[in-house]
Amino acid sequence: MDKFVITGGAALRGEIPTNGSKNAALPALAAALLTAEPVTLKRIPRVRDIRTMQRLLVDIGSQAEVEGETVCLHTPQIVCPEAPYELVKTMRASSLVLGPLVARCGRARVSLPGGCAIGGRPINLHILGLEQLGARIHQSHGYIEAEARDGLRGAVVHFDRITVTGTEDLMMAAVLAKGETILRNAAREPEVVDVADLLTKMGAQIEGAGTSTIRIQGVEKMGGAEHTIIPDRIEAGTFLIAGAITGGDLAITGCNAGHLDALVSKLQQAGVDVTQPDGGTLRVLGGGKLRSVDVTTEEYPGFATDLQAQYMALMTQAEGIAMITETIFENRFMHAQELARMGANIRIDGKQAIVAGPHELTGAGVIASDLRASASLVLAALVARGETVIDRVYHIDRGYERIEAKLARVGAKIRRVE
Ligand code: EPU
Repeated sequence: MDKFVITGGAALRGEIPTNGSKNAALPALAAALLTAEPVTLKRIPRVRDIRTMQRLLVDIGSQAEVEGETVCLHTPQIVCPEAPYELVKTMRASSLVLGPLVARCGRARVSLPGGCAIGGRPINLHILGLEQLGARIHQSHGYIEAEARDGLRGAVVHFDRITVTGTEDLMMAAVLAKGETILRNAAREPEVVDVADLLTKMGAQIEGAGTSTIRIQGVEKMGGAEHTIIPDRIEAGTFLIAGAITGGDLAITGCNAGHLDALVSKLQQAGVDVTQPDGGTLRVLGGGKLRSVDVTTEEYPGFATDLQAQYMALMTQAEGIAMITETIFENRFMHAQELARMGANIRIDGKQAIVAGPHELTGAGVIASDLRASASLVLAALVARGETVIDRVYHIDRGYERIEAKLARVGAKIRRVE
């Protein structure tokens, strides 16, 4: 198992380019199942979750050609409409094939995901939605079996709570349903809009993506398309915090600054100088005194839960008390104990973490528990005195493409050891 060895103290200076979004690329890959024609996706990040999704699609019947960041998927036929437990347990987003499979071939068998380090990850809302579109659902042996031999039919689906992949899954199912589908209380994340853009290029009729009501007029058939994935706002946000926490001067290029408004606003309130030289670049200039600023995670356009752990690392270095409230997942504070081992003063009380700062962090052996928690530990290590060894960095490889190489290029003392 790989580890990162990081020696803290270097201010990061230079440019870091942003990759394509993992969470937009995953549903885009699944969308390729909706057509027998080739779908070419550009700016696909080379991270482990993407390779897992590609493996799943090949098992289902896709031919995949990968060249650099471009992936061409061609699925003349669905050979096996199934997402097995072995893959779903390593990546919950595998359930994104459910909607496309039922829509394309009238049946799907998808393992239930089970628990996860950050909390329960049920897919009950995906299932309820599909039932409303006319699928018959049966659960046995840990699997969901969905059937709609005569095709799906449009319906009004009201999500009890906002779900990102649930919205994407239902949107993909509805594009081939007979008649109109209306998704209410839909997720408004940029990743949902990106999938809607791809589906539209493939022939779908979708209105309202990016708002909480999405209207889809079903079409007979979907076709091939070429599409470039949006920049990864969580990767870009992680690097913004890296610039702030090390007191450096970083330009994050190739990002969509508008997708990062909530984080940028918090950083500015905390005393970090963030400017936008152009729409695709954010420049962060650290080094001033950091102030504690409270944060509550919310669905987009609120503060992303996927940036909460990284923001907590920053708050350990800020003057005052920061209250960090996590409202999306029930157990997403696993990084707090590891940060505390490095010297942070953090108290957890239910959905809230109370961070008192600033406290000097010192290098220690720590364990990465999930993707974003790992990013938080890397950020803390960059500012800690001495050496930090982060174990189980396979978590970070799920969603960051060669983070150590990107950070080393701007001056971080970080290396990967086996
Ligand atoms: N939920 C249900 N029932 C459902 C679906 C969700 O109760 O059927 C609950 C979840 O348990 C959670 C909340 O609703 O408490 C929101 O979950 P959501 O479905 O929005 O999460 P997701 O679609 O499984 C995506 C991202 C996550 C990100 C969340 C929230 C992908 C592949 N994953 O997950 O990304 O944290 O939205 O923004 O898009 C990450 O990249 O590190 C990551 C975990």
